Amino acid sequence: MSNNNSELESNSDRIKFGLIGTGARCGGLSRTLVKDPEQRGDVIALCDINQTALKKAEGMVKSYLKHGTKNYTDYRELLDNPDVDAVIISPPDFLHHKMAIDAFNAGKHVFLEKPVGINLDQMIDIVNAAKNSGKTLEVGYVLRYAPFFVEMKKMIDDEEIGEPLFCQALEEYYGAYHFYRGWWKKKANTGGIMIQKICHDMDLHYWMFGKPKKICAFESLMNFKPGGWDNKGAVTCHECENRCPYFTPETGGRTNSDECVFNDPHDITDNCQIIIQFETGLNLSMGMNFFNSRGQSDRHWRVVGSKGEITGRLSTGMIRYDPRFDSTMGFEKTKVYLCNKPGTGGHAGGDAVQILEFLQAIKEGRESKAGIESAYWSSIMIMGAQMSADKDKIVRIQDLTDKYPYPG
Ligand SMILES: NC(=O)c1ccc[n+]([C@@H]2O[C@H](COP(=O)([O-])OP(=O)(O)OC[C@H]3O[C@@H](n4cnc5c(N)ncnc54)[C@H](O)[C@@H]3O)[C@@H](O)[C@H]2O)c1
Repeated sequence: MSNNNSELESNSDRIKFGLIGTGARCGGLSRTLVKDPEQRGDVIALCDINQTALKKAEGMVKSYLKHGTKNYTDYRELLDNPDVDAVIISPPDFLHHKMAIDAFNAGKHVFLEKPVGINLDQMIDIVNAAKNSGKTLEVGYVLRYAPFFVEMKKMIDDEEIGEPLFCQALEEYYGAYHFYRGWWKKKANTGGIMIQKICHDMDLHYWMFGKPKKICAFESLMNFKPGGWDNKGAVTCHECENRCPYFTPETGGRTNSDECVFNDPHDITDNCQIIIQFETGLNLSMGMNFFNSRGQSDRHWRVVGSKGEITGRLSTGMIRYDPRFDSTMGFEKTKVYLCNKPGTGGHAGGDAVQILEFLQAIKEGRESKAGIESAYWSSIMIMGAQMSADKDKIVRIQDLTDKYPYPG
């Protein structure tokens, strides 16, 4: 079903976008796309099954671009619109597979929100469709565009720490309570919370340290479960008599629900530890938990090399460098790099850079930085980690790459 808007009038020399799944993430991403004249793309079509989300997106486009949009509730009709050059696909994760493949088959460039499908069968279909289409794929791995991680990668490539020998990464996310509501709370919809949340980090690990060799992971549900808060069995916020700090009044915010994050049934976990050995021999551990203190909500990184180490927290935009052999114990030779000021836009400044890269890649007819290679290897790692946790065994990466070969 589509409705034409009589005020539809767009700028013909810009890449024309259709947005599919105009929820929370699409809002931030598409506003970045249209608001800055230097990197502006045009948005001419929208699709969502929810009229409220659709109207919100329509209002946003109109406020920046001063024109209307064609609105759809069936994404296949949007893909049939020959004026649409590129799509941003950001519905719930379990819809990524079919929508992305249909979009490539319709000849569109695709910005696909992460994850790249919810399992390796879906991932390989998507990367093969991207490869065969010759169109540009950009996965929503926004962190590889955040100045903090760009600087970290540059320091590694420039051998400031010598050969990378060891890495510890930690994601602590206070805001993750919304995962225990709405579509996020079922593993069947996301592939699991590791795939949903720290596929980003796997992309960064591959980018910095190359191909993985083996992986093992443990996950469990420690706190977001009955007993995690004394609320006498309430399963919704509105019936709760002992409100927790995650109390979400009225609409329930992001997921439009007020399900109790402790008592409402869900089958995802709330913490994990992953260990990866790379082909270089580097051992990496990556932790994630959602019951951290609010002030520590962050990505914390430490990379130790043969000549020195770098440590940092994403939210501060600061990376500290310590040379390995420093007789002053850090008083004279330690350096601090300020990569960006806090508050420089969504995802630590990554959103704006990523949209620009996608537009550039389309214009230059090339693959994007967070393109096929990134989609493939990040998924091999995080979906391999999920297999390890599910099957309680160490996963050899070669077994996965034999079964799901990189598109040739
Ligand atoms: N890159 C990042 O850092 C990042 C951050 C947040 C979310 N995400 C990803 O973005 C995606 C969306 O997340 P969100 O937070 O916006 O969720 P959301 O629930 O707010 O939005 C999803 C939207 O998709 C719509 N939708 C559902 N089924 C549809 C269908 N068949 N056709 C069209 N629209 C449909 C829903 O009505 C909703 O408006 C997810 O895949 C998520 O993993 C990525």
